[in-house]
Amino acid sequence: MKESAQLALPLRVDAEVRENRAEGGSNFRLRLAVAGWPGAEPGRFVMLSPGARGAALRFDPLLPRPMAVYRTLGVAAPPEIEVLYKVAGRGTRLLAETHAGDRVRVVGPLGVPFAMPVAGRRALLVGGGTGIASLYELAARAAQRGPVVVMLGARSEAELMGCDDFAALGVELRIATEDGSRGHRGRVTELLEAALDAGAGGEAIYACGPTPMMRRAAEIAALRGRSCQVSLENRMACGFGVCLGCAVPRADGSIALVCRDGPVFEAGQVAWAGLP
Ligand SMILES: Cc1cc2nc3c(=O)[nH]c(=O)nc-3n(C[C@H](O)[C@H](O)[C@H](O)COP(=O)(O)OP(=O)(O)OC[C@H]3O[C@@H](n4cnc5c(N)ncnc54)[C@H](O)[C@@H]3O)c2cc1C
Ligand code: FES
Repeated sequence: MKESAQLALPLRVDAEVRENRAEGGSNFRLRLAVAGWPGAEPGRFVMLSPGARGAALRFDPLLPRPMAVYRTLGVAAPPEIEVLYKVAGRGTRLLAETHAGDRVRVVGPLGVPFAMPVAGRRALLVGGGTGIASLYELAARAAQRGPVVVMLGARSEAELMGCDDFAALGVELRIATEDGSRGHRGRVTELLEAALDAGAGGEAIYACGPTPMMRRAAEIAALRGRSCQVSLENRMACGFGVCLGCAVPRADGSIALVCRDGPVFEAGQVAWAGLP
């Protein structure tokens, strides 16, 4: 993983909602103007207030929600970031009710990013559900270094996120849906197995999505003696190592904090059986 000393320091700022658009299924695309945004390495995330900030402090829900920085839009001043999110519960439902001009508290960028693939080496990126949002910047930057295959999976076509954006990067895009409404009928990890078995070896493997999906990607990589970087999507309360709410067991018996030591880990370092 990348040295934390090189990473941009986090901001704590009220960002302005520029657009918050429904994108089918329960997916939304939030565009925020973030004054002073320093940029974010692929895999880093922000903590967003659960909905617009009014004059009074919100107590229900109180805690911010972690969201991947889907991408930074370079040309705008102040800089703008996009977040792709799925309405899962109360916090994201309130976020979905925000409109252009509202203010949303942003803390970030946070966490340890993905380590980039060695130049010239093929990168295999596997994203499931909301985990797709953590992979766009990685795909964009990896594509400048070598060939990239992006494998995206969801229950149905309507639940897929960002497919057109990935396609526009010129990467090879493979899709799997559990109901067969788009691409391969089945799980996205089956695409990973096929790609590895047909490949020349030496690919850099990345996965982000629901825990069972990442556990399976880790198994597939390990069975072939390969390493794999995963980005864990645990629940978080603070996002910067204070509340200990995101603790996960490591394979060596120690404890890691997903927000501070991750969210990106080598899959072999994670004690998968102990994950929530
Ligand atoms: C580093 C990181 C990056 C993330 N990036 C994105 C992203 O880009 N887009 C996106 O849509 N989501 C992302 N998530 C997940 C997102 O944080 C949760 O979906 C969100 O916090 C749910 O909040 P809520 O109040 O709507 O739901 P809650 O009411 O808190 O929960 C609703 C349902 O979602 C489940 N849930 C809550 N939090 C999580 C979680 N962290 N992971 C999995 N299930 C959860 C609960 O168990 C419950 O079933 C990310 C999580 C992490 C840790
Ligand atoms: S979310 Fe608080 S320590 Fe990680």
